[in-house]
Amino acid sequence: MAKDIIMSGMRPTGKLHLGNYFGALENWVKLQEQYKSYHAIVDWHALTTAYEDTSQLQDNIMDVALDWLSAGLNPDKCSIYVQSDVKEIAELFLLLSMLTPVSWLERCPTYKDQLKQLEGRNIANFGFLGYPCLMATDILVFKAKYVPVGEDQVPHLEMSREIARRFNTIYGDTFPEPDALLTEAKVLPGVDGRKMSKSYENAIYLSDTPQEIRSKVGNMITDPKRIRKDDPGSPDVCSVYSFHKIFSQLADIEDTAQMCKSGTIGCVACKKKMAQNLTAFLEPIRSKREQLEAHPDTVRDILNEGAKKARETAVVTLEEVREKMNLKAAE
Ligand code: TRP
Repeated sequence: MAKDIIMSGMRPTGKLHLGNYFGALENWVKLQEQYKSYHAIVDWHALTTAYEDTSQLQDNIMDVALDWLSAGLNPDKCSIYVQSDVKEIAELFLLLSMLTPVSWLERCPTYKDQLKQLEGRNIANFGFLGYPCLMATDILVFKAKYVPVGEDQVPHLEMSREIARRFNTIYGDTFPEPDALLTEAKVLPGVDGRKMSKSYENAIYLSDTPQEIRSKVGNMITDPKRIRKDDPGSPDVCSVYSFHKIFSQLADIEDTAQMCKSGTIGCVACKKKMAQNLTAFLEPIRSKREQLEAHPDTVRDILNEGAKKARETAVVTLEEVREKMNLKAAE
């Protein structure tokens, strides 16, 4: 039986952090065993908000590719490509834009949010408004069945389904309506206790060195009520403990919680233990990245090969779409 198709993407905004890893990448690595997977570095999407300064774009694309490959995405099992290398996406985007109501785009909660958040930046543009239509195109061009994404992308997925439905109604059954593949995301705060985010400068990166990890963990916020080492602490309000729960062995986790509550382990020692476990966890990813960094041409080849595989499917979809829309003279 043919494998179901999944598709997902990330904007190239630089090196990936643990939040990106546990929010998406870890899951993609598992899913590639089971699904026909397409993973795009969506550089056109990056331009919807960052079109003015594109000087870092190529470096950012390379960083994402390096992190994906180091974390275990396997180019023999899935297609890893740069969105702009697949021009069929641009053509399908244009065609789908013809039947996408502006009111749907304007109503999109992420659109309204971002406009507010990025106030003062010049993003009230056609391309930015069309973001969800471009995302729908990314998915529909492969007729993907599932889209592994986080909660925050659900409105975009809903719009992809509506665009697919509208196309099917007008031109005949063509696109399956894609479903979100939501997984329980591990909650990992940033070093300051807020959500881990590049823009908050509170992130730990997959490529951080052991020294960087030690120093970032050293600055992590713990239970604020714990002043002295022998004060009893509450692990549940401590960011370090959230990390222990992911990176430490079960027995260790219980031990640590017990010692924290009874005031028999200080925050410094507790952080040191966690930093060691985190470093051990990241070590294989970091060393793979180092190997790949020495061969950027190999990485470029992988992306080219991925685009080639992606185009094989995209070309077929476009043929069908042009035909259904009467953009081709009868033969
Ligand atoms: N909008 C997604 C995000 O910000 C990125 C994205 C673009 C995407 N195209 C996609 C995700 C297609 C899934 C499928 O995370």
